[in-house]
Parts: sequence; C-alpha cells; structure tokens
Amino acid sequence: MWTIQGALMSLTLLAGAGAVALDGPFSNYQTKISNSPRNPVYPIDSVDKMETDAMPNVDMWMHKKTVANKNNNCTLENAAIRKEWSDMSETERQAYTAALKCLMKLPAKSDKTRFSGAVSRYDDFVAFHMTHAMQLHDNVHLFGAHKYFVWLFEKALRDECGYTGYQPYMNYDRYAEDPGNSPLLNGNASSMGGNGAPDPSYKGVPQYGRTPNIIKSGGGGGCVTEGPFADMVVNLGPTSMATGSKLPKNPKADGTGPNPRCLRRDVNRNAAMGATNAKAYSLLQNTEMNKFYDQLLGSPVPKNDPYPWGIHTAGHYIAAVDPGGDPNTSPGDPLFYFHHTALDRLWWIWQMQDPTGRLYDVPYSNATMPMPMKGRSTDTQDAQNDTNPLETMVDMEWLGPPIKLFETHDQLGGNGGQFCYIYV
Ligand SMILES: *[C@@H]1O[C@H](CO)[C@@H](O)[C@H](O)[C@H]1NC(C)=O
Ligand SMILES: *[C@@H]1O[C@H](CO)[C@@H](O)[C@H](O)[C@H]1NC(C)=O
Ligand SMILES: *[C@@H]1O[C@H](CO)[C@@H](O)[C@H](O)[C@H]1NC(C)=O
Ligand SMILES: *[C@@H]1O[C@H](CO)[C@@H](O)[C@H](O)[C@H]1NC(C)=O
Repeated sequence: MWTIQGALMSLTLLAGAGAVALDGPFSNYQTKISNSPRNPVYPIDSVDKMETDAMPNVDMWMHKKTVANKNNNCTLENAAIRKEWSDMSETERQAYTAALKCLMKLPAKSDKTRFSGAVSRYDDFVAFHMTHAMQLHDNVHLFGAHKYFVWLFEKALRDECGYTGYQPYMNYDRYAEDPGNSPLLNGNASSMGGNGAPDPSYKGVPQYGRTPNIIKSGGGGGCVTEGPFADMVVNLGPTSMATGSKLPKNPKADGTGPNPRCLRRDVNRNAAMGATNAKAYSLLQNTEMNKFYDQLLGSPVPKNDPYPWGIHTAGHYIAAVDPGGDPNTSPGDPLFYFHHTALDRLWWIWQMQDPTGRLYDVPYSNATMPMPMKGRSTDTQDAQNDTNPLETMVDMEWLGPPIKLFETHDQLGGNGGQFCYIYV
C-alpha cells in the first residue's frame, strides 16, 4: 500500500541514488496492463518481470517526451498492446488465424513480372524478405527494419482483413520443453497449426562451428496435416538457402516463380531449448548493444551447452522446414512473425532499462557496411553522410513508404507517431 510516509521514503531513496525525484505514475498504464491479464498456466518469468519493472521508467520517459511535445500523440494510455499467444483468448487466437487466411486470399500488389509466384498479399511480404534478406539482417537494420516489416504486416491484417487485435509474440520458454503439446503448436483449432508429417530424410539444420553442429530433427519435416494451416498453399521459394529435404523445385532459379506446395514443419524441442527464459534473461543483462546483438546471434559460441544456437537462430527453427527454414523465404510460415515480434519485445525490454541511454543504440554502427536499405536519405546533405546509420533509409518498397532508421527505434511515437504499442 502507498502511504505518505512510503512515498516520501521512496523519494528520499531516489534522491539518495542520484535520480531526479519525480512522483509517478504520470499515466494510468497500470490499469491498462492489469486489464490485459496473462494466462495463469504460465507463471510470470524473470524476463516478464524485467518488462514490468521497467514500466515506471517508461512512464517517466513518456511523460518527459509529452511535456516536450515530442511524443507524436502517442501515450501509454492510447498505445496498442501486443500480447503473448497463450495470453490471448481462444476467440482472439482464432480471429488472428482468420485474418492471416484472409491476407493469403487477397491479391498480391507486388510486381507480377518480378514475382510471378507471389499470389497473395501475404506473399508480398515473403517476396520482400526473400529479395532483401541481406539488408534486413545487416547489423544496423536487424532490429529496426524488422520492427517496421512486422508493423506493416500487422497493419495489413488490420486495414485489409478487419483484424482488430495486434500481432502476437511467443514467449519461447512457455513452449520450449514440449512445443508439440503447446497451445502454439498442438495443431488444434486455436493453435498456429501442428507438426509436419514424419519425414526421415529430414535430418535437421546444420550449425557449422558449434557443438553440437546440428539442430537435430524433432521427427517431423513433412506437410502440416492439422490445424488452421493444414490446407495452406506455399507459393514462393524454395531458394538456394532452403534446409528442407526433397522440396519441389521452383521454376525460377531465385525462387520467385510459382511453386504451389504444402507448408512443411518440424516442431523441434532441440531448437526451442535454445531460447529458454534463462537464455533471454542472460541476454538482457548485457549493457552494451554490441554484446546484446552478438549474444542474440549466438556469438561467442556458448560452450558446454546442448543448445548453443543463440535466440535468433533457435526461434527460427522451433518448427521451420519449408518455407520457414529458408532464411530468404522464412516469413512464408506465419510463425516467423511470432518470432520476430518476440525479438522486437526483447529489444524493447533492453532499451527500456535505460530509455534515454539505449533508444538509439545501433550495433556496430562504426562498421562500414555498404548495405543501406535502398540508398541514403533523399535529403541532399544526409545523402553524403555515410557516418550516421540512424539517418539511413529503411525502404520497404511495395510494402510501405521509406522512413529513416531512427524512426524505427521508438515504438512509442516513432514513424511520426504511427508506432505506438507496448508489450504485455
Ligand atoms: C496530434 O493530434 C492533434 C489533434 O488531434 C493533431 O492536430 C496533430 O496533427 C497530431 N499530431 C501528430 C504528430 O500526429
Ligand atoms: C487447444 O489446445 C489448448 C492447449 O492445450 C487448449 O487450452 C484449448 O482449449 C484447445 N482449443 C481447442 C479449440 O481445441
Ligand atoms: C567497431 O567496433 C568494434 C567493437 O567495439 C571493434 O571491434 C571494431 O574494430 C570497430 N571497427 C571499426 C571499423 O572501427
Ligand atoms: C553526419 O551525421 C553525423 C552524425 O549525426 C553528424 O555529426 C554530421 O554532422 C553529419 N554530417 C553531415 C555532412 O551532414
């Protein structure tokens, strides 16, 4: 309970710690969060706790932005909430999968001559990722460009398919021990679909330079037969980077031609165990962006660890075979969006431990990576300026308007206020 004495005491403590004495909360975010309950089956874990514990910080930071009129009308009260899959009701989960299926039925807007295999609006996003994988994954863009990519996907679900919720994320730890029996992948009507049929020729995903050096198959590998995506038609790919076994070849060498086939998966505990709560918590202890980034990607290689993949790789292979296991066409399995939203959340939790200090941190921003997301800023002065990655453009071409990288770093007011969401 708050008492006057308690409040004075904490002000004194804050002052003693050298912090500015401010009385929060400045917004009603606590009510907002408590109106978005978590699933009691899963206890709050240490990463959830870091997220919750950062909220007074976030609230104070938003208050300062608002006072300075720099919040672009985004407030903690009007921010959207992205939820964990199991925290959504079954009705909400089925509304999400229905919206995905709607997007898979709407006609593509991408260039038909360049992507003869892109049939649907859903495929438009796959087409972008498969032709921009290098730029999307360079050090500078990994976080920001994926944030924008996922946000545009969420916007398409909402604007074009009448979805009223937001993009879910997965808390890997909830499913890591037994993904095949989880609400995410058990194959029932409110899951994201089930495992692929057993295919003994699918061995897993090689991991060169690691011990073990393969994410061994979890026993699947074939077509998904249960759940909302049992009848899904995959169109684009595979590309030369595909990991699946005996996949039907694409008529075009770069995988952009039409190649209708089933969704193949391997629900895989060996992968999921590389993204447990202990690993996410350890990741979040890094105070330097470069170390945070490296550890996310599994560098340096963990020793004496049966699952030494790094969370980025682990999350991709929780069920991926085709197209999910192909680094180019991975958004062709809708689980891609759960994973990259989960990474976006980890980045946000990391940033929010020190909003002013960490918001615009870019990994290895000193490296001279010749990988702008299609050119520099159109601003003449910036066009000559290769020294500031935050000024580079993130150009999503047929998916959405180009924006500067720094706009993608702030999910509470970035992109002219269009980004305005929190995670619960
Ligand atoms: C904020 O809201 C006001 C009032 O609705 C509007 O005039 C203004 O353009 C908005 N600003 C931004 C950045 O969206
Ligand atoms: C699907 O499985 C989950 C997790 O076991 C369960 O909570 C839910 O009731 C099931 N829903 C349906 C529609 O079968
Ligand atoms: C960039 O920074 C990293 C880490 O601090 C360092 O190892 C590397 O040598 C630097 N590269 C350049 C080009 O300065
Ligand atoms: C380039 O960007 C850096 C970092 O923001 C800035 O200090 C510098 O003045 C810019 N140079 C030009 C020519 O705009």
